[in-house]
Amino acid sequence: MAVLVTGGAGYIGSHTCVELLNAGEDIIVIDNFYNSKPKAIEAIKEITGRDFRFYENDCCDREALDRIFRENFITEVIHFAGYKAVGESCVKPIMYYENNINSTLALIETMQKYGCKKLVFSSSATVYGIPDKVPVTEDFPLSAINPYGSTKLMIENMCRELYASDDQWSIILLRYFNPIGAHESGKLGEDPNGIPNNLMPLILRTASGKMATLSVFGNDYPTPDGTCVRDYIHVVDLALGHVAAIKAARAHTGCPAYNLGTGKGYSVLDIINAFEKVNKVKVPYVITGRRPGDAAACYSNPSLAKKKLGWTAKRGLEQMCRDSWNYIKANS
Ligand code: WQD
Repeated sequence: MAVLVTGGAGYIGSHTCVELLNAGEDIIVIDNFYNSKPKAIEAIKEITGRDFRFYENDCCDREALDRIFRENFITEVIHFAGYKAVGESCVKPIMYYENNINSTLALIETMQKYGCKKLVFSSSATVYGIPDKVPVTEDFPLSAINPYGSTKLMIENMCRELYASDDQWSIILLRYFNPIGAHESGKLGEDPNGIPNNLMPLILRTASGKMATLSVFGNDYPTPDGTCVRDYIHVVDLALGHVAAIKAARAHTGCPAYNLGTGKGYSVLDIINAFEKVNKVKVPYVITGRRPGDAAACYSNPSLAKKKLGWTAKRGLEQMCRDSWNYIKANS
């Protein structure tokens, strides 16, 4: 019996593999290394001291998926694999639809063929669009403000309609807020291929001198210091949320959605100041214009995940900043 982790070499996937193995689960991993590196697979094994089967394949490859299910007794799936860069999705929307939707369709149809009906899906707070108020709860209106978000919302709808057609499915939709941080060992962290879009990878590039200055996208928002507020969550807390979700998926059927966030909002300048203070490094920045599509504030009410999954985030902003920088220093 094993949990199949698609995209298990990626940032959140690899941290989740570590916590699944630490919890005594057996796993199978599939990843095509589009936005990850083979060294992540070795790091998972080093950190946990446990082995597992790895398949370097694309989740759109139906023959590969069929082989994986034929060769292994897969009881649940955590589906991380997918493109996730908001900016890139605006430039290449069809590539995002083709990959994110087709890979999920191929996965679900293969799961159905092999009688595997327990799925945890990597969704995102982006399905809330630009929320009218905060904190955000799971019953807020859903909308998409970019092609990446459209694929996440479309997959959520597919899952809800799949469950409506067959109540033997047990699907849990996890809506991530802003994952940052890294494993304390320094062996795993956020290591995107290409140019990152997200704040923390860009702070790290600025602090390490690969970028001269960080652009802060606007300081004229209706927030305490004028910069955007987000719910930053340590990637290890996020990973532990998936371990809790797998246990819940085994116990119930349905298709609920849960916010995985801390419930605390921090501004861009809060993050920069905390990072500089904890790590005793400078992050030179300039205030530039707003980035189109940014919400002034978006942070979660995570109480439903606590009630239904028995999960809460425990790691604070200082640890998120310390672990992020530790990974860069350990791998520079
Ligand atoms: C955070 C804040 C920027 C870069 C996105 C996706 C979401 C999830 C997380 C996948 C914003 C500001 C950023 C920079 C800046 N991804 N910023 N200068 O946009 O909240 O969420 O990533 O699931 O789905 O939508 O995260 O890290 O891009 O930005 O000032 O160089 O940092 O304006 O306020 P975001 P982010």
